[in-house]
Amino acid sequence: MRKLKIQALIFLGPPGAGKGTQARSVANEFGIPQISTGDTLRDAVRKGTPLGLAARTRMERGELVSDEVVCGIAAERIRQPDTSRGFILDGFPRTIGQAEFLAGLLREEGRGDPLVIYVRVGADVLARRLSGRRTCPVCGRTYNLHFSPPRQDEVCDVDSSPLVQRPDDGEEAIRQRLAAYETLTQPLVDYYSKRGLLHDVDGGRSPDEVSRDLFNLVAQA
Ligand code: AP5
Repeated sequence: MRKLKIQALIFLGPPGAGKGTQARSVANEFGIPQISTGDTLRDAVRKGTPLGLAARTRMERGELVSDEVVCGIAAERIRQPDTSRGFILDGFPRTIGQAEFLAGLLREEGRGDPLVIYVRVGADVLARRLSGRRTCPVCGRTYNLHFSPPRQDEVCDVDSSPLVQRPDDGEEAIRQRLAAYETLTQPLVDYYSKRGLLHDVDGGRSPDEVSRDLFNLVAQA
């Protein structure tokens, strides 16, 4: 397992940039947890918890869930003991308010400055990546019908379960998610850049090429 100097890694980028794919790969390489606010919220929706019931409509429409709710989720998860060697935030923060909250939390917890990885991908590629995404509901493996399809049409290679599409990967929700990103999340690129914390990575290449760069970047940070 590779050692990590920086405690908090943030994966920033538009929907479909490959944040989740790369966060999983880096988490695996360095043996630290991936914290995805999107996964936590989807799990709550699946289980029908009060959090899930409150978030469901906004998520299906492609709108952001309130800062108050996601900051609570992130803080609770970051305080778990398995983050002691470091952790990856995938999809958090995504507003200036969330970034300010996180800065305070990291200070309070003595975690130091985060390393922010901006996964940059051209707008033309994003919609294809999102509309082609399919996931196995049993093992969680993610495919893409355009870029990394399963061997058999819409069926998981690992356990033969029928693949499913995320409810927010439909055309209208994708449009809304990209718009929300432009308005509310893109300003974070400037926010972290001004603080000297941002590293730009070309996410338009193959997943393995992107991962290779990220492993080097994270190991040297
Ligand atoms: P979330 O789950 O965070 O979704 P997102 O940010 O829209 O990002 P995605 O998961 O769609 O994309 P990704 O960048 O992770 O790409 P992936 O690796 O999957 O959030 C969902 C919703 O939850 C939000 O809309 C909001 O409602 C709510 N929410 C979550 N966090 C919140 C917050 N902090 N504040 C408020 N609300 C919040 O890849 C996509 C596809 O492309 C896959 O099929 C993959 O196989 C493929 N792919 C990946 N990399 C490559 C590559 N290099 N080449 C070819 N294909 C690739």
